Amino acid sequence: MPRHRKPTAAERRNKEKMEPHRTLPSSTATPSLTTPDYLFRSIDEVAKRLKPEAPVQCVFPEAVRTQAKRFIELFPGTVLYAVKCNPGADILRHMYAAGIRHFDVASLDEARLVRGLFKDAKLHFMHPVKSREAIRRAYRMGIRDFSLDSAAELMKLMEETKSARDLRLFIRLAVAGNAAAYDLSGKFGAAPSVAADLLRHARKVAAKVGICFHVGSQCMDPVAYTAAIGRALDVATKAKVKIDILDIGGGFPATYPNLIPPPLEAFIDAIKGAAQPLIDQGAELWCEPGRAMVAAGAAMLVRVTLRKGRRLYINDGTYGSLFDAGALGWRFPVRLVRPQKGGKGNTYKDAGARPPSEKFVPFMFYGPTCDNLDKMKGPFLLPEDTQEGDWIEIGMLGAYGSTMQTRFNGFHSEVVATVWPEAAPFAFERPRRKSVMTPGQPEPATQQVSAMRRAVTPLTMPKATEQPQQLSLIADEPQGSQQSLNAPGHSQGPPLSAK
Ligand SMILES: Cc1ncc(COP(=O)(O)O)c(C=O)c1O
Repeated sequence: MPRHRKPTAAERRNKEKMEPHRTLPSSTATPSLTTPDYLFRSIDEVAKRLKPEAPVQCVFPEAVRTQAKRFIELFPGTVLYAVKCNPGADILRHMYAAGIRHFDVASLDEARLVRGLFKDAKLHFMHPVKSREAIRRAYRMGIRDFSLDSAAELMKLMEETKSARDLRLFIRLAVAGNAAAYDLSGKFGAAPSVAADLLRHARKVAAKVGICFHVGSQCMDPVAYTAAIGRALDVATKAKVKIDILDIGGGFPATYPNLIPPPLEAFIDAIKGAAQPLIDQGAELWCEPGRAMVAAGAAMLVRVTLRKGRRLYINDGTYGSLFDAGALGWRFPVRLVRPQKGGKGNTYKDAGARPPSEKFVPFMFYGPTCDNLDKMKGPFLLPEDTQEGDWIEIGMLGAYGSTMQTRFNGFHSEVVATVWPEAAPFAFERPRRKSVMTPGQPEPATQQVSAMRRAVTPLTMPKATEQPQQLSLIADEPQGSQQSLNAPGHSQGPPLSAK
């Protein structure tokens, strides 16, 4: 090409194909939320090129879109994405591109964020306790769906909307949360008799009425939904109110190393069966998944600041993206990232970098703040020679990861990288091993090494015919496989702009 000639469109497209990482896709160009925001071929490339000192949220667009499409396809009703779970603008855009148009928002800021991105988004304010100002402004923004679990909140809603006649009011029913790894039953939800009263009152003032509930996050047993739907039916019957919408909330599980749930299909089947009487009466079915939609859609790339024996001090922690690993003691899949220098085909030896040890040992993580609670017991299995300066990919952190960050002790990172076309290595359910573990019990290191040496079993999406599994804590495949696993359902297309 002559030096001063402008490249033709075909030449530009060709160059982008050759060097996709140099092209900033418009779907992720949101500097205020994600800075800097780049496209990388793999997580290793993020480490190699950015050499990040701060944690980086690595988003896998295909994993986000695949799961959103899966929910839309399987759920017999309307799917609302629970924005709180990961409000990243790029995540929201991938959701939208996959067909999600309904968003469950918990605050005015979330409502404004979604409305700012998508003019046609349908917003639903499903937080049962809202400030008067939030109600007023939300109504002015066009939001008509609100949840409540008390007479006082119903009063506020009526006063702040000047007794609007076009409200759709959802009574949040108290339901059991004991099948969930994270019980949410202690804060919201009206007892059945109170819910029946509220439903009767709501029927008189609202255009439409519904019942909603939340069975707790990372719900491990479909029976929890069946029981909650049964309770909602009882309340509607007792109140003698025909409900227009049943919103079964969030709670759908993701797959973590020590929390392996039955497949999504088992939950959907149970929900369909239990809700059939309401569907037959003409009621709509809604759900508000958060975790299950995005958990596999992002990983955190963190760096080791110091090693003390089997304790790794890393640059992210309980006050950052690892709340669930610290406060709840959940294990996340991990992988050492020690990029070699040089181009394709270079070995660690050529580059002068040491290849990681083949022996895997359990580590604990310590976060960057000075607080004693800022530690994560894991155990996290990593090569024995993991050291200061290494990076670690912590998978399955698309849900309640970066969104939980505080600025405590001055640690905070908004760096987001889009990883494409490499698949999220921990995206979908893996084949189960037979052995049953108690939480926190370290896996034998040898298992992990043998997993590395084994040919990688392709990940499979759960089949609709799979039987629901028992609620149990069962060891996943060993963590830390150095290979990048290609999950099925990954298209070859680039992360397109949602707009
Ligand atoms: C009202 C509501 N809907 C949906 C969700 C999303 O739940 P999950 O991430 O467990 O699917 C939450 C989470 O707290 C919630 O409070």
